[in-house]
Amino acid sequence: MIKLINISFQYDNASTETLKNINLELETGEVLAVVGPSGGGKSTLLRVIAGLEKPKVGEIFLGEKCLCKKGTFVNPEKRGIGMLFQDYALFPHMTVAKNIEYGLIGMNTTERKKRVKEVLGLVNLVEYEKRYPHELSGGQQQRIALARAIAATPKILLLDEPFSNLDTHLLQSVREELFGIIREIGITTIMVTHNPEDATTQADRVIEIVEGIASEKNWTKNNKGFI
Ligand SMILES: Nc1ncnc2c1ncn2[C@@H]1O[C@H](COP(=O)(O)OP(=O)(O)OP(=O)(O)O)[C@@H](O)[C@H]1O
Ligand SMILES: [Mg+2]
Repeated sequence: MIKLINISFQYDNASTETLKNINLELETGEVLAVVGPSGGGKSTLLRVIAGLEKPKVGEIFLGEKCLCKKGTFVNPEKRGIGMLFQDYALFPHMTVAKNIEYGLIGMNTTERKKRVKEVLGLVNLVEYEKRYPHELSGGQQQRIALARAIAATPKILLLDEPFSNLDTHLLQSVREELFGIIREIGITTIMVTHNPEDATTQADRVIEIVEGIASEKNWTKNNKGFI
């Protein structure tokens, strides 16, 4: 489904590479957790996959489609990738429905309304479409952010510490709900997390990134090997 070949990346103002020769392959529907110390390069890896940063070396394929290699670079909005980042807040001045519709470019109004209803159904918040974000609990906001991330039917979902803004009492139920939805729709997912419990209970596979170098951890029941 997604394949990274020899990906190396260096920020313009950095003296060393932030990602060093990353090779990774995920099958359709697999959930990968990315762990490792702060500053190791986890968020950078997601940014490179999303097309927000351009690697200096390496190739990325999504299915048969080449997203990036020497001379080829597909822009983020054309990649078919859904993102749910920690600071990727809902627009406060837009209703739930408008927040979700925002990413549905290329659909007419009827199609957009239908899709909003569908994804709200997936996250069990159909009756909330007219509410504003401040009228929702933290967990409900998180579910709406997930609904927005999956609305355009992305092929892969990238999550960067999606639970770090949640209170402890909400954490477990929201985590279980979000992963229930991810498993239900069977979307291939890469999730950065500081929480070893997310990695071991929710992921099929776990990689650790330390100083830009990735290695697979044998933490889960279903380890399929890191190439
Ligand atoms: N825009 C940038 N320009 C230059 N250096 C950056 C930039 N963004 C991140 N870095 C550096 O790249 C390294 C990797 O950062 P990254 O955000 O990928 O780490 P991380 O593993 O996600 O850390 P954390 O767990 O703290 O979120 C760090 O040393 C960071 O300072
Ligand atoms: Mg990070």
